[in-house]
Amino acid sequence: MTDRPTVAVVLAAGLGTRMKSAKPKVMHEVGGRALVMHLLTTLESLGIARTVVVIGPGMDDAAALVAPRPTAIQTERLGTGHAVLQAKDALSGFKGDVLVAYGDTPFVTEATFRKMLAARSAPNAAAVIVLGFEPADPGNYGRLIVGAKGLERIVEAKDATSEERRVRLCNSGIMLIDGSHVWSLLAKVDRNTAKGEYYLTDVVAHARAAGLTCGVVDGEEGELLGINSRVELAEAEILFQSRMRRAALENGATLTDPATVYFSADTKIGRDVEVGPFTVFGRGVEIGDDVTIKGFCHFENARVSSGAVVGPYARLRPGAVVGVDAHVGNFVEIKNSTLEKGAKVNHLTYVGDARVGEGANVGAGTITANYDGFNKSFTDIGKGASIGSNSVLVAPVKIGDGAITGAGAIVRKDVPADALAVSGGKQDIIAGFAAKYRAKKKAEKEARKKS
Ligand code: UD1
Ligand code: CA
Repeated sequence: MTDRPTVAVVLAAGLGTRMKSAKPKVMHEVGGRALVMHLLTTLESLGIARTVVVIGPGMDDAAALVAPRPTAIQTERLGTGHAVLQAKDALSGFKGDVLVAYGDTPFVTEATFRKMLAARSAPNAAAVIVLGFEPADPGNYGRLIVGAKGLERIVEAKDATSEERRVRLCNSGIMLIDGSHVWSLLAKVDRNTAKGEYYLTDVVAHARAAGLTCGVVDGEEGELLGINSRVELAEAEILFQSRMRRAALENGATLTDPATVYFSADTKIGRDVEVGPFTVFGRGVEIGDDVTIKGFCHFENARVSSGAVVGPYARLRPGAVVGVDAHVGNFVEIKNSTLEKGAKVNHLTYVGDARVGEGANVGAGTITANYDGFNKSFTDIGKGASIGSNSVLVAPVKIGDGAITGAGAIVRKDVPADALAVSGGKQDIIAGFAAKYRAKKKAEKEARKKS
C-alpha cells in the first residue's frame, strides 16, 4: 500500500506523430509488451487505488489492451494539462493524491515511484512533487527552474530563454500532486500562447502563486527517457534487454553471451539454466530449473520443464510443452504439442498438435501432417513408442504405447500398442544389377568419346 491514498492518471492520448505509425505510440512494444502496459504493471505494484488511462478518440485497441482499467477519452488533444483533467470524472469518489505518469515514459521503476510517494508523506511535504533528472542531452525536455524556496516553475524547451535552456535539470513528466489542490490548480492552467496547449507543467507556477511549495525528486536517466520516435523505441529496447539479461544472471541463469539473448517482459527462467548464444524468448515463455538451451533457439508461448535439453536451432511455437528431461534437438519445430517426460525429438522434425508420450523417440525427419487444408488434427504418440526416420504421421492418428513405425512409413491408420507399422512396397533385390548398370553406362561414355 502507498502511505497516503493515491490515484494515478496515465497520459496516453498523444498521436505519437514522430513514430510515423498507424498505431498509437503507447501500443508500440518493448520486450513484447506495449509501452503503456509496462507502466501500468509497475503502478499496480505500488498499491494505487485507481488508475485511469487517458486515451484519444478511436483508440479502441488501446482501451481493450488496458481493460479492465478505466479509460477517459480526450476528444481533442489540447495538451498534457487538459489530458489530466479528462480523468477527473473517472476519479470522482476517490480520495487521494494524484500521480501523473506518461505512457511514453514507461520504464520508471517501482523504487523511484516510492521515493516520490515518500516525499509526499514527509512532514511539511511539498504540494507538488516533480520527478526530475539530468539527461546527457537535455534537448526538448522541459527545464526545472529551482529557486530558494524549491521548484518555482517548469519551462518547455521551446518556450525557454537561452539561459533557461542551459539548465540541466529536466522534467521527466512524472508528477505527484496534492489531492486537495489538484483540480483547482489544473483549472487555472491557461492555453499556452505559442503552442495552443494546456501544459500540465504550468501547475507548478500556479501552486507557487497560491502559496504552496513544490519539490523535486531525483530520478535516473535510464528510467526516464521519453519514447517519441522509432529510434528512441529501439534505444529503449536495448536498455530493457540489458536489464532483463542482468536479472536473469542475478537469478541464477548462465548466459554464455548475454548480449545475444533476447527476453520478453514476461519471460520466466529458473535456476541453473544454461542459455547458449543467439536465443530469442518471445512472449509467454517459462523455463524450468536445470534446463540446457543450446544456442540459436526461438521460443514463443512455450513451457520447458526441468532437466530438458533444447537446441541448438530449435523452434518452440505457441503451446509447446517440453516435459521433464525431454530432448528437442536441431532443426525441430514444435507447436501446440506436449512432449512428456524423457521424450526425444532430436533431428529435423515437425511436431504439431500432438502428444509424444513418456520416453518415446521420434526419429529424424518425422512430420506430423496435422493440417489437411481445412482442419487441424491431433497425433497421439504413446509412451515408449518409436517413430522411424522420415515418417509421416497423418493426423488424426494414434500410435499406441510401445509401438514402432518403420523408416519412411506413411502412417494413416492407428497403430495398436506394441505393434509394428510399415508402409510402402515390399523390397525386391536384383542381384548384380548395380555392377551391370555401371559397366553399361561406362561403355556408353567411352563410345561417345571415340566418335
Ligand atoms: C512533456 C513535458 C515536458 C517533459 C517531457 C518528458 C508538458 C507540457 N511537457 O513534453 O516538460 O520534459 O514530457 O518526456 O507536459 N498527451 C496526451 N494528450 C495531449 C498531449 C499529450 O495524452 O493532449 C500524452 C502523450 O500521449 C504522452 C504524454 O502525454 O504520453 C506527453 O506528451 P508529449 O507530447 O510527448 O510531451 P513532450 O513534448 O514530450
Ligand atoms: Ca514525450
